Amino acid sequence: MQRDSDTADALIAADWVLTGASRLGTCAPDASPAAGGALGIIEHGAVAAHQGRIVWVGPESDLAQSVDLAGVPDSARLDAGGHAVLPGFVDSHTHFIFAGDRAEEFQLRHAGVSYEEIAERGGGILNTVRATRAADAETLLALGRSRLRSFAAHGTTTVEGKTGYGLDMATEARCLAIMDALAAEPGLPHIIPTFLGAHTLPPEYRGSTEGRARYVASICDEMLPAFAGKARFCDVFCERTAFTVDETRRILARAQALGYQLKLHANQLGATGGAELAAEFGAVSADHLDFASDNDLRALAAAGVTATLLPGCSFSLAMAYPQWQRFREAGLHLALATDYNPGTSYCENMQIMLALAVNAMHATLEEALLAATLGGARALGMQDEVGSLEPGKRCDLLVLTGADERELAYHFGVNLVERTVIGSIPSAKPISLPE
Ligand code: NIG
Ligand code: FE
Repeated sequence: MQRDSDTADALIAADWVLTGASRLGTCAPDASPAAGGALGIIEHGAVAAHQGRIVWVGPESDLAQSVDLAGVPDSARLDAGGHAVLPGFVDSHTHFIFAGDRAEEFQLRHAGVSYEEIAERGGGILNTVRATRAADAETLLALGRSRLRSFAAHGTTTVEGKTGYGLDMATEARCLAIMDALAAEPGLPHIIPTFLGAHTLPPEYRGSTEGRARYVASICDEMLPAFAGKARFCDVFCERTAFTVDETRRILARAQALGYQLKLHANQLGATGGAELAAEFGAVSADHLDFASDNDLRALAAAGVTATLLPGCSFSLAMAYPQWQRFREAGLHLALATDYNPGTSYCENMQIMLALAVNAMHATLEEALLAATLGGARALGMQDEVGSLEPGKRCDLLVLTGADERELAYHFGVNLVERTVIGSIPSAKPISLPE
């Protein structure tokens, strides 16, 4: 998309430019002939955009001969100040709409009570379901907005958000409506809504096989038809404490018939058959996969399913980390996400996930960064839309506090993102953290 021309009419129209980057990590090695390495780094790279979409990337020294800078007002010229620039993170797995917290349970777990035991006692997800059902829409909206601001402050420009703390028609609908309202607010990350009514069995259906069947029927016959077109994805927690393979198959089949794209929480706590199911349905992503076998991984790769790794869960649950090498060798497309939720990964900071991916899962920094950007986009079926800095994609990027992206993972536990740009709209500098 680069053009070399001396004539003004061959210049690319733009209304926004970024200059002053030390290194521009495009995550798209083909974005420009000047891009090098797995991350497609352009030394002293620049970006031009028009109406929120990237129209040109390349070395800053080529910018003026390629782009019509006369059309770019001063207020739309961003100077990265000699810092490194990357695509915004695409967080493809979060549960950011909920009320309450579970700090007490976190302490219980460290006193030796397992996550599954807490769930069996009526705590865990159900604890958050009670708090979420009791919260009014205004409270949930304010919580969601403040969390999204914090995602953005840490470099994330697209956030998938799951329902699943309502588990009844009214509350699930309220959570989807809140995501819809937040999606219309400027300056927040893009939101991709997922229906996760099959998160756990709600209390009112517990205690009998017949109750389980009735809840699955209510998902298939009432909720899925009602939310078609409102949620882009349908997800199921296919796990010992949640839904069986047969129940999951029923829900996925119905969702697919209604036009939802599919995701699956698979093989997080045990070898429960979720990964095979994700391959069978050709889900867009299968997430967690801590207990996936080599056969499972091969089946997922053959079916083109993106594997989403969530090291924040391994960290919070003090579990072993799946090793990156197994996924790499299976030839899978990989995404890295936070799984932001109040139970098993209360963290919206993708930079922490990069540190865990590199230091505990033994990914290279390039692999981890690609998984947190383009990989996340792929896990949302949005690889043509976001996840890399190349012409045609949304102008979503982050400016680091330093000159080199290799500080990520190495310098951990602090926010290395100075500024986030979403659809060419930069956040204020310095980024304000949520109240
Ligand atoms: O991805 N799978 C369940 N969902 C979350 C946990 C949710 C919770 O504990 O509230 C997960 O780990
Ligand atoms: Fe999750």
